Amino acid sequence: MNNRKMVAGNWKMNKTLQEGETLIKELDKLISNPACAVVIGVPFIHLTTACNLLKDNKFIQVAAQNCADKASGAFTGEVSAAMVASTGATYCILGHSERRTYYHETNAILQEKVNLALENNLKVIFCVGETKEEREANKQEQIVKQQLQEGLFHLSAEQFKQIVIAYEPVWAIGTGLTATPEQAQEMHKYIRELVQEKYGDLAASTTILYGGSCNPKTAPELFSKPDIDGGLIGGASLKAEDFSAIINAQ
Ligand code: 13P
Repeated sequence: MNNRKMVAGNWKMNKTLQEGETLIKELDKLISNPACAVVIGVPFIHLTTACNLLKDNKFIQVAAQNCADKASGAFTGEVSAAMVASTGATYCILGHSERRTYYHETNAILQEKVNLALENNLKVIFCVGETKEEREANKQEQIVKQQLQEGLFHLSAEQFKQIVIAYEPVWAIGTGLTATPEQAQEMHKYIRELVQEKYGDLAASTTILYGGSCNPKTAPELFSKPDIDGGLIGGASLKAEDFSAIINAQ
């Protein structure tokens, strides 16, 4: 059970390189012997610096927030999974709702990205979640099921072991509106059931994170739920004390 636990930060498009260095150095000092895996999802340009600064830190792993859906070639401005892996990063966040909404990433595109990340030995934090309108129409389970089926469930069981799922209801992201622990638990349980149907016993060891206005106050109750294995943290991951307090809630 305990080895499912994780707290991951998603810095999004925040922090210059110098500001990022400062935050990483603070985290390096503050986070010692955490009760869960810790990942920081930084902008591409921070990856090498983050990996270098943390090379002697056994507890904090580094993630990219995206990778290209093509392996290499004439795709100006894109960053491939192989490039991400070559920095020393070990994770890639994929399918974040901001990528789906603003950059039109479909489940089919995400399937390609997941494949390329895994081919390059990156683990994937795959985000799913419904919008406010979809929840109001009581379609949240249908949406999340489709995102999982079309983005992930083509994987073999062996490949699926490299996947962390993050449930991030879009209406809770950056809004201060955290899902109630009961709402989140209900969805996490449903996700675990879907994984069980597809991959059997692997469901018991699959990490399922909650994301959406998770902070030091809301984390303890969320993390106490049986199917909530930790959090994917946006705003609160930008302050070392807050991120560290969330990790200590595990
Ligand atoms: P906030 O924690 O800022 O709501 O963001 C959550 C998120 O999108 C993490 O990926």
